[in-house]
Amino acid sequence: MNAVEERRITAGVLVIGTGAAGLRAGIELAESGVQVLCVGKRRRDDAHTVLAAGGINAALGTMDPEDTWEQHAADTIRESYWLADPRTVEVLCREAPAAVDELVRWGAQLAREEDGRLTQRFFGAHTFRRTCFAGDYTGREIQRALVRRATELGVPVRDDVYVTRLLVHEGRIFGAYGFDIDDGSRLVIFADAVILAAGGHTRIWRRSSSRRDENTGDAMRLAAEAGCRLRDMELVQFHPTGMVFPEDSAGTLVTEAVRGEGGILRNTSGERFMERYDPGRLELSTRDRVALANYTEISEGRGTEHGGVLLDVSHLGRETVLDRLPRMYRQFIDLAMLDITRAPMEVAPTAHYSMGGVRVEPATHETDVEGLYAVGECATGVHGANRLGGNSLAECLVFGRIVGREAARWSTSLDLHVRDRAAIDAAQEEVDELLAVRGAEFARPLQRAVRDLMTECCGVVRTEEGLEEGLSRLGEVTEAARALEVRPDLAGYADLAHAFDLQGSLLAARATLECALERRESRGAHVRLDYPNQDPQLRVNLVWGLDAEITRERPPEPSPEVMVLAAGPDVDIAGRLLE
Ligand code: FUM
Repeated sequence: MNAVEERRITAGVLVIGTGAAGLRAGIELAESGVQVLCVGKRRRDDAHTVLAAGGINAALGTMDPEDTWEQHAADTIRESYWLADPRTVEVLCREAPAAVDELVRWGAQLAREEDGRLTQRFFGAHTFRRTCFAGDYTGREIQRALVRRATELGVPVRDDVYVTRLLVHEGRIFGAYGFDIDDGSRLVIFADAVILAAGGHTRIWRRSSSRRDENTGDAMRLAAEAGCRLRDMELVQFHPTGMVFPEDSAGTLVTEAVRGEGGILRNTSGERFMERYDPGRLELSTRDRVALANYTEISEGRGTEHGGVLLDVSHLGRETVLDRLPRMYRQFIDLAMLDITRAPMEVAPTAHYSMGGVRVEPATHETDVEGLYAVGECATGVHGANRLGGNSLAECLVFGRIVGREAARWSTSLDLHVRDRAAIDAAQEEVDELLAVRGAEFARPLQRAVRDLMTECCGVVRTEEGLEEGLSRLGEVTEAARALEVRPDLAGYADLAHAFDLQGSLLAARATLECALERRESRGAHVRLDYPNQDPQLRVNLVWGLDAEITRERPPEPSPEVMVLAAGPDVDIAGRLLE
């Protein structure tokens, strides 16, 4: 007999996640006339997307008319160290201009030149200026436009739902199980199709550009436990510039737009050190190179007392800083009482983006489970071993629309929808069991232990010994988590959400460590001190599944028109410190 209140809801398509990818999918579904429900675990106007600062890429050619979608694709593939899937990248780059047009139609206020053209700024390693922006509040502005459009269309959105399990019968999805974070009531949501748009796993490092309780790896756990494979989990982007001071703000993003607008990196001897690491592109080199350069300067003793390097915009002038980087100005005043128009910022690498994630079909983002799609940061395919800044917002919009279309097609053509009582019971028991344990452990300290071990054993640089140690420490945390006590209280069921977040983090950490061990080379953001070179045999994606051996997949060649622009000597690693 079921003692807990359990509400049953039916939707044609369920979207999990209300950031840019989830909302864009919801809009597409509503426009297609399919009954959709979007659920998120935080307020829709405060989804992680609002933290995306510097911009969204599209080869509009407003500033550099020579730009083309093929060049955008070539830059993305080349700088991914050939691990991006060209089929996915080509769709992204071809469709990004239409996605930006659409945003503007929906009222997004992107920056313009005086003559009315959308303006575009340089972001690292792009051949041309192709990053559109709204100051350094681009994600916030995009999210605002999407929330407005979804509201106009009457897309139902719930901000208080934590999904604990995807419901699958014989390899086909039929819904999801979860609870209301405020009152703990349970929800069984039946749906023909489910779109997972619930983010990545970069909050499992101590310094992260994500806030507490976001990007904990929950999307990866939901997918893996439903029967999906994950791919390239070791490929995690460390953004070169996160705040280092004060300690409780450490990791907070300092947007690449600072360098795009002309910010200069220096060590404490006053040296513009990027001249040694990438003399051609300097601060606008690729993120993996700038992150490793910053890491190297700091670890070799040329950093500040707080453990950062200096990033200076004071030469740009107050007006430019306030106009183009208003958020950074405010952020440093609010958090560090520092006026960046007068004094340099202190910055160091921060875990920023999961380039790996749920393995999806390149053009449709179908997963291994029928009727389940993954999109945005939880999916993989666009970025390979190094992501170009500005590509993720474009990815959310382009593939958000595509998964909406695909899920609508699946839902309307479905001939048989089977609901499996045993799968629902198992989901219910999982929550009951977690609530019943009376143990000595709490979720937050164990999350901290995961962050510590990932930072110390699987950070910007890695070794076999460190990764093995990480796995062993992870085993201890996993064991301790069996004695986890969950205590919802009058304030709500956040503690139960933390317990599931911890499970997500444990799974994501394991996949990351195991894949990092398997990739015995250095490529992009994955730097192995014990294997300092690229291994041509490892120009492959690593595929990880629960209880399965890691397997390899080789990405195909790009189409000829993109290949011709991307070809050339491999991205070399000269100037990178690997001692
Ligand atoms: O630095 C930034 O503004 C981040 C952009 C991105 O990750 O795409």
